[in-house]
Parts: sequence; C-alpha cells; structure tokens
Amino acid sequence: MIKKIEIEYELFEHAGLLSLEDQAVLEAARQATKTAFAPYSNFHVGSAARLSSNEIIIGSNQESASYPVGICAERTLLNSIGSQFSTEKIQVLAVSYDAIGKPSKEPLSPCGMCRQSLLDYENRYEAPIRIILSGLEGPVQIFHSASHLLPFGFNGSVFKELRGK
Ligand code: THU
Repeated sequence: MIKKIEIEYELFEHAGLLSLEDQAVLEAARQATKTAFAPYSNFHVGSAARLSSNEIIIGSNQESASYPVGICAERTLLNSIGSQFSTEKIQVLAVSYDAIGKPSKEPLSPCGMCRQSLLDYENRYEAPIRIILSGLEGPVQIFHSASHLLPFGFNGSVFKELRGK
C-alpha cells in the first residue's frame, strides 16, 4: 500500500502582503540577524516570536570556536522563551537570514534539529505555532504548524507509555 501526505503552506510574493502583525514579527526577525554571532559561517540568522502576551522576543544564531557547540537562531529563541516566558504560548515565529554580501531572497529552510525543537514546543504548549520564513527580501512562506515542517516527527509519547508500565 502506498500512502501520500500533503503539506500546506501559504506563499506571499513579498512581506508587504502580510497582515501588519505578521509583518512586525518578520521585521523583528530580519533585524535580529544583526545580533547573530556567526564569524565562522558568515550566515547571520534572526528569529522572532510573538507570545500570547503580544510581546515580541528575538533570537539569533550563536556560533562557537568548537563548531558543533554553536546554536541556531530558532533554538536560541525557543530556549529563551521556555526559560523566561514559560507560561506564554508562541502565536507566531519568524526566521530570516543575512548571508552577508550574498543574496537573501529565498525563504530559509530550518534545519532538522530546529524542526524538532519547534515541534517540541508545539507539543509542550499544546498549541500550533505559525511559522513565517523569508529572506531579508523576497517571497514569504507561512506554515500553520511546526508539524507541517516535520511530518512523522518524534513526539516523545513513547516515554509516557514506558513510565506508565
Ligand atoms: N542556522 C540557523 O541559525 N538556523 C537554521 O535553521 C539553519 C542554520 C545557523 C547555524 C550556523 O550558525 C549557520 O546558520 C550556518 O549553518
């Protein structure tokens, strides 16, 4: 038996076509690229989230001289929300990047670890996170749930079952 899945997302030609609320979050992510510490890759990633309080929080990638120790913009942001604003839900989260001297016109495709982390937060707060992806300019993709970026993702339910035994 062959099964197929479909992934739905919205595509906008440019940020000006988004709602004003979404424009503000994407703009915060674009601005947050300036806070990245990325001397090794020169790939400056910015993230921003609007919380249920309406507050916008930012994050950026922070690299390490020991390369694997570095952390992506998405997880910098998610971990800071989880520790500082643990009672807030994430309404929407945007990611952008500045490739320093190279074009930033295509939406960024989050790495696999960040997709897992986004899914973790979605499960933790039992609320879907809208995800806005775009370069510093150009088209914008909007996904309506982190699970759409990580189909068949691991949700840890097996741990509950093991504990229950
Ligand atoms: N990076 C992110 O911050 N988010 C992603 O989704 C992809 C990659 C960062 C990690 C590293 O600092 C640089 O971009 C190059 O991989």
